[in-house]
Amino acid sequence: MSKVLVIGSINMDLVVETSQFPAPGETILGRQFRTFPGGKGANQAVAASRLGAQVTLIGCVGNDAFGRELVAHLGREGIDTRHVRIDERASTGVAAITVCQAENSIVVAPGANHALAPDDLHAAHAAFAAADVVLCQLEIPLATVEAAAALAADHGTPFLLNPAPAVPLSESLLDRVTLLTPNEHELGIVLGKPDDDWIGLLRRHPQRILMTRGAEGAWFADSSGQVRHQAAFAVEAIDTTGAGDTFNGALAAFWGMDLPDLARHACAAGALSVTKAGAQSGMPTKAELEEFLNKKNRS
Ligand code: RIB
Repeated sequence: MSKVLVIGSINMDLVVETSQFPAPGETILGRQFRTFPGGKGANQAVAASRLGAQVTLIGCVGNDAFGRELVAHLGREGIDTRHVRIDERASTGVAAITVCQAENSIVVAPGANHALAPDDLHAAHAAFAAADVVLCQLEIPLATVEAAAALAADHGTPFLLNPAPAVPLSESLLDRVTLLTPNEHELGIVLGKPDDDWIGLLRRHPQRILMTRGAEGAWFADSSGQVRHQAAFAVEAIDTTGAGDTFNGALAAFWGMDLPDLARHACAAGALSVTKAGAQSGMPTKAELEEFLNKKNRS
């Protein structure tokens, strides 16, 4: 069982289903409203845990009802939450999500996620020492992400970075990333080359970037610089929220596989995750993922 350390956001997702996205200035009536556990960090932690990894999450919530509910939920998912700090001054992060025909638009109010500081990571140094792989995203302060990368490097532990939401990243941070997992839109932004074509960018970083393109699958350059594609798996999509997080959680859970196999497992996990409403509801267990892949092998 791989030991995965996730450092990232914990949100309550406030989700309204609609039949169309509102235009700026427009008010529309939605359908059902529901709350779901979310946040890219928490989602990736849950995905890795369901797939059999031993997961520790470092994060921050407020001293409020959402924070208590989310930490209890993470515990029920088998995640070690001893390094989730309760901040007395900030409120728990929330995400306002509109879901329309399986697609989503999301606005995050980071709240306590932005109180997660490098000191919180130093206080949890034992978790870095114990981890086989460290996984991070960008819904927490960049200084904290940089500290996470430095601590992972100090321990010689692979550092996976899902650069979402995208911002330009420093060379020193990029140098410490073992595998970067942007989508097509994020790739140029994080590398500071928004106008370059993605194939060229992948070729310049062989085996260091695994780029996703929604329902089309994932791409990477192999050691010879040849760009390779893992096709997505066709499923009936209900809600794509959290598909990228499931993909990243699977990468961490199955870390140690070669990159083509890793991409196949991550794409399959991501596909299964969109078959239920909410970011985490559809995330597969290891047994469900294996059954799905076996069926695909036979067909
Ligand atoms: O990636 C999906 C997640 O983004 C949601 O759960 C929401 O909380 C935002 O963080």
